[in-house]
Amino acid sequence: MTDNNKTATLTVNGENYELPVHSPTAGPDVIDIRRLYSDAGVFTYDPGFTSTASCDSTITYIDGEKGELLHRGYPIDQLAEKSHFLEVCYLLLYGELPAAKDLETFETTITRHTMLHEQMQYFYRGFRRDAHPMAIMVGVVGAMSAFYHDSTDVSDPNQREIASHRLIAKMPTIAAWAYKYHTGQPFVYPRNDLDYASNFLRMCFSVPAEDYEVNPILSRAMDRILTLHADHEQNASTSTVRLASSSGSNPFACIAAGIACLWGPAHGGANQACLEMLEEIGSVDRIPEYIARAKDKDDPFRLMGFGHRVYKNFDPRAKVMKQSADEVLDLLDIENNPKLKVAKALEKQALEDPYFADKKLFPNVDFYSGIILEAMGFPTSMFTPIFALSRTVGWVSQWKEMIADPQNKIGRPRQLYLGETTRDYVDIEKR
Ligand code: SDX
Repeated sequence: MTDNNKTATLTVNGENYELPVHSPTAGPDVIDIRRLYSDAGVFTYDPGFTSTASCDSTITYIDGEKGELLHRGYPIDQLAEKSHFLEVCYLLLYGELPAAKDLETFETTITRHTMLHEQMQYFYRGFRRDAHPMAIMVGVVGAMSAFYHDSTDVSDPNQREIASHRLIAKMPTIAAWAYKYHTGQPFVYPRNDLDYASNFLRMCFSVPAEDYEVNPILSRAMDRILTLHADHEQNASTSTVRLASSSGSNPFACIAAGIACLWGPAHGGANQACLEMLEEIGSVDRIPEYIARAKDKDDPFRLMGFGHRVYKNFDPRAKVMKQSADEVLDLLDIENNPKLKVAKALEKQALEDPYFADKKLFPNVDFYSGIILEAMGFPTSMFTPIFALSRTVGWVSQWKEMIADPQNKIGRPRQLYLGETTRDYVDIEKR
């Protein structure tokens, strides 16, 4: 934290309080209110954390006005073009791009942790076959704490490191098995000779009767989807992981909490909701009707994959995703994909509409990702599990940063209480 001589003065009931102001390396200054309650006896009020920095971090930076996303300083479009998912994982976890030897060691470590404890299969079998893969993932990831006891002691840096590797390595197997179970097919074991994305695709689409030949272009597209979703500073699910782990809970339980939060349609569930919306719209001529509904205050319908708390400009990930959608559909010879056609026309019409322009609502990461995933053969129910698999490295990196931070305290927000004040209990016959 950069200390400077800046202060902010707050007047409460006629008394002035000087509050320290911290300057970040990028972004707006932050007023430090930690002593406000003890000094002035008041709280601040900020539901949804619209103006509150909940922690300091050196991992990811977003400039919402410019539409810029940096991981450890590197722009996401450069990482999407030149790097690959496991290298970005290393960058997020350790702060620097790896030297070739370090990358090799890291990739070997991750590859050697991809299998699940055999007993976990029976855990899967307890779910109904029609369970949503996200429901299975919340359960199975939480259950990892019952299978990997030797990496649950958060006070031990070595155990934290092993837990991080296990989570990143096993998540593709967990997600692929959730899918296999859901479709009634046998589980496919990981293969160590394949790269991370190819291994995941194979575990999803291979069957004992026929192996799945991984197309390198699809594997690259999958790797890019993983890279684009890897981290996004203090979003709802990451904040959930941080809050859950602030009490000292084990990492598997905390990441399960993050998965639960990600599932919602306002967050990671938007990719599934977006594809369902494009399907429902069906044709370009129906777009005006849906745009009118999205603008109507009395209609709960909103354009899925549109809008963002931080981006008031294009989500830089959406730009890369749109390009990838074109490439993948081209490769698969899917000409005139009706959903892509509707998506492009919807984007154009919304961006030309003053309602969306005035509110600075642009396509976000979830707008085009579903189209690519569907073209690869994934059902909509797998879209959010794939987001969870990529975001695991972000959750883990933020968790590790928080645990190692000497300022780490249990998260304990206060409230603006508007309920009854003290009153006497009334006996039931007198109510
Ligand atoms: C992700 O934070 C992250 O980093 C998340 C994420 C990540 O990588 O972790 O980027 C991933 O979650 C992307 C977002 C996916 N969600 C959606 O696509 C769902 C649709 N979008 C929204 O519901 C909404 O835009 C949010 C939830 C994304 C942001 O919500 P905010 O910041 O609380 O904004 P808001 O709902 O208060 O909206 C401000 C105004 C409102 O109108 P007014 O009341 O001011 O008149 O904009 C309107 C909203 O009604 N609005 C929309 C809209 N989104 C906002 N109107 C129509 N369609 C929309 N999609």
